Amino acid sequence: MRRIAMLLIAITVSAVVITHAAERQKTKTQQPPGPAASYRPTDPSLYAGSDVCAACHDKEAKSYNHGPHWKNELQKGRGPEWQGCEACHGPGKAHIEGGGDVTKIIRFPKLSSPDASRRCLDCHELGEEHSNFMRSEHQKNNVGCIDCHSVHAPQVERRLLKASQPQLCYGCHLNVKPDFSRPFHHRVNEGLVTCSNCHNQHGGFLTKQLRSTAAQDQVCFNCHNDKAGPFAFEHAPVKVEGCVACHSPHGSSNPRLLRRSNINLLCLECHTLTVDSAAPAIPTFHNQAQKYQACTMCHVAIHGSNSDHFFFKP
Ligand code: HEC
Ligand code: HEC
Ligand code: HEC
Ligand code: HEC
Ligand code: HEC
Ligand code: HEC
Ligand code: HEC
Ligand code: HEC
Ligand code: HEC
Ligand code: HEC
Repeated sequence: MRRIAMLLIAITVSAVVITHAAERQKTKTQQPPGPAASYRPTDPSLYAGSDVCAACHDKEAKSYNHGPHWKNELQKGRGPEWQGCEACHGPGKAHIEGGGDVTKIIRFPKLSSPDASRRCLDCHELGEEHSNFMRSEHQKNNVGCIDCHSVHAPQVERRLLKASQPQLCYGCHLNVKPDFSRPFHHRVNEGLVTCSNCHNQHGGFLTKQLRSTAAQDQVCFNCHNDKAGPFAFEHAPVKVEGCVACHSPHGSSNPRLLRRSNINLLCLECHTLTVDSAAPAIPTFHNQAQKYQACTMCHVAIHGSNSDHFFFKP
């Protein structure tokens, strides 16, 4: 009897310990992400107000008044931690009392990249444009807000940018620059289309930080809506693999931004008996004599058709 009782106690105790550990683990993971609450203190006596800062930092005060961020002061009723210079730089009284003690004020270039971005996101995280920033390829590689934006000395006032597109992006993505000088290209250098038309530099759910349409479809449909369908007869790859199955999105040496110089070679990547794909092989009468090389001479509605199974007409 005693042994059984001991055993029962032991089991109960370890069960309690395990639940406690699990409980602790739970509260730990349930804590909101980001630095502790003390990082944006609410005690008003720690704050000085922007007018006081301006007395010693004339230049920054000018750019602040000239830029968009003074608008924070329109939101009356919010605490001082959300207003003026100190919404970004943190409470400044100790900095002033220390005669401009730089260790008592937030200096963005001294923060880690994610910590700096976090302060901006406190206000900018709402909305789809920025809500995925922390999981973006950019932030994962320590490229943060202030690598592209400058609050006090922007080169481009609109959007507070350090440089305009595409130069801003080429600054780090030199490898894609030649694509936009190919004979056929989206006119990005010419200013007709921007990198951020197709990519969300602030991150998203798709690979390559690609944007999508409002209906969560391929970004290309935002401008090439005629290809979106739905068609009675869809050409499978357009919807399944997407436009990049056949097109090089940045630029190409081939007309129509095609990935291959000859259309037949492009089509035969899939439409061959030897290829393991869902695509039917070309009929045997399609001998590759000249007549049958220009596939889209006959299969004109290559992106899909409402009237013809073989895409002979729209
Ligand atoms: C009495 C004058 C004075 C006031 C008022 C003052 N500062 Fe300063 N601040 C200084 C001095 C001096 C420095 C050090 C400058 C240096 O080393 O170049 C400094 C440095 C800074 C820096 C760091 C600059 C750098 O080079 O990294 C920031 C940011 C800053 N102040 C923000 C603020 C903010 C925000 C306020 C208002 C809450 C404020 N200051 C109010 C005098 C002042
Ligand atoms: C929206 C956030 C934000 C606000 C508001 C803001 N700053 Fe800044 N401040 C920054 C960032 C980010 C930097 C780093 C340099 C840059 O991006 O221009 C900076 C840099 C500075 C510097 C250092 C400049 C240097 O030469 O290195 C000073 C001083 C400063 N701010 C003072 C102020 C004062 C004074 C105000 C209010 C009048 C203010 N800031 C408002 C974000 C902000
Ligand atoms: C890789 C560069 C890059 C990074 C990193 C970046 N931005 Fe941007 N951001 C841009 C560009 C470029 C635009 C302008 C797009 C356009 O022309 O409309 C922009 C636009 C904006 C806008 C304008 C409004 C809007 O919704 O389009 C805001 C606000 C903004 N960024 C805030 C931020 C914040 C906050 C961060 C950090 C969390 C950040 N950005 C990180 C490049 C960047
Ligand atoms: C306290 C809240 C707050 C913080 C913190 C904050 N912003 Fe803003 N930001 C705003 C508001 C408000 C606007 C103006 C929006 C408008 O005009 O509708 C704005 C506008 C912007 C714009 C758009 C400018 C334009 O031309 O449309 C950019 C870019 C931007 N902020 C970047 C930053 C960066 C980078 C940081 C961090 C260094 C930051 N913000 C921190 C509130 C904030
Ligand atoms: C400060 C440097 C820097 C700037 C400026 C910058 N990027 Fe990036 N970008 C990176 C780094 C680093 C990565 C991650 C590594 C990589 O994939 O090259 C990245 C990743 C990307 C990716 C994802 C690539 C992939 O393979 O998943 C895209 C798309 C992108 N950036 C677009 C842009 C656009 C558009 C701009 C201009 C608005 C821009 N970048 C500006 C540094 C930068
Ligand atoms: C017309 C839409 C479009 C424009 C404009 C565009 N991109 Fe892309 N980009 C794409 C697509 C789609 C991919 C993915 C390609 C793939 O999956 O094969 C991509 C891929 C990338 C990649 C990943 C590396 C690579 O080459 O595959 C980077 C980096 C990139 N783009 C940067 C940029 C920059 C920088 C600009 C502006 C100079 C830009 N893009 C303009 C559509 C675009
Ligand atoms: C922001 C609008 C925009 C987006 C998004 C866009 N395009 Fe374009 N596209 C254009 C414009 C404008 C042209 C015409 C180019 C010119 O005349 O310089 C074009 C041209 C083309 C052409 C060549 C047409 C021809 O007649 O030679 C192809 C192919 C193409 N786009 C495919 C794509 C693909 C694939 C995507 C998605 C990755 C895409 N586009 C996304 C605007 C866009
Ligand atoms: C199966 C391969 C394939 C796919 C997938 C594909 N295209 Fe095409 N696309 C072509 C071919 C081939 C041409 C050239 C037709 C010609 O020259 O007769 C073309 C031409 C174009 C043109 C220029 C001529 C026109 O019809 O306007 C645009 C724009 C275009 N494609 C956009 C897109 C977009 C956007 C997508 C994704 C929705 C896409 N393509 C997917 C094969 C494809
Ligand atoms: C990435 C692979 C791929 C490429 C490249 C491709 N196709 Fe297709 N194609 C398919 C698939 C998959 C089907 C759908 C088969 C089905 O649904 O039964 C299809 C269907 C077709 C059909 C209709 C066949 C039928 O029996 O209904 C024709 C015609 C066709 N493709 C012609 C072309 C032409 C012409 C090109 C080159 C411009 C091309 N395809 C490029 C994969 C591809
Ligand atoms: C001279 C016009 C013409 C040209 C050029 C042409 N085709 Fe066809 N294609 C046809 C005809 C006709 C059919 C048969 C339709 C039927 O069965 O009723 C067909 C059928 C097809 C089919 C459907 C096969 C099946 O079993 O469902 C595919 C796939 C196809 N073509 C691909 C291509 C490709 C790839 C090229 C370029 C290499 C090409 N076609 C060039 C006229 C053409």
